[in-house]
Amino acid sequence: MPQGLYVIDEMISAKAIAARIEALCREIVAEYGNTDKLVVVGLLRGSFVFIADLVRELSLPIEVDFLEASSYGDSMESSREVRILKDLRGPIEGLDVLVVEDIVDTGHTLNHVTRLLRSRKPARLRSIALLDKPSRREVDFRADWIGFEIPDEFVVGYGIDYAQRNRNLPFIGKVRFVDQDDG
Ligand code: IMP
Ligand code: MG
Repeated sequence: MPQGLYVIDEMISAKAIAARIEALCREIVAEYGNTDKLVVVGLLRGSFVFIADLVRELSLPIEVDFLEASSYGDSMESSREVRILKDLRGPIEGLDVLVVEDIVDTGHTLNHVTRLLRSRKPARLRSIALLDKPSRREVDFRADWIGFEIPDEFVVGYGIDYAQRNRNLPFIGKVRFVDQDDG
């Protein structure tokens, strides 16, 4: 990302996000309707607002856990590596699990995390991402539920940051850099 002055143009309103979450939660409840317990796993930090709104629309017995992963590109290689910075507090073997992510971009993060969690033998493992940028995909990964498909734009807000800023915006906005020489 270039450094400098930028403005944020609203892309998805808070109202549109809330309406989409209601619809998604109806589908999630239908999928997990008979569960004894659903472990909702939020990927830190970008999903923290999404997960807060999601769980309050889920009329299911849930527990919440968090996992933090960081993906980074090797400057000489196109392949990506994903590191687990903070693992779950509890075991998930035999449990119903829903992984919650902010954005699927190249796909490396959710691909790695869902493989890792599947190796722990949960009963049912599904994933949901608020945003999906399919044009950026580098690995064949699809989340089970997607809030909104978006074009290849850098977005912020609703938990999502640019250099740790703008997570507190109530809507999703796209970052537009302003040419400082352009009056
Ligand atoms: P990937 O799918 O492994 O490439 O990575 C997804 C992660 O990249 C997301 O969880 C975000 O942390 C970050 N990311 C991708 N696109 C954006 C964006 O437009 N704004 C802010 N973070 C982004
Ligand atoms: Mg992230």
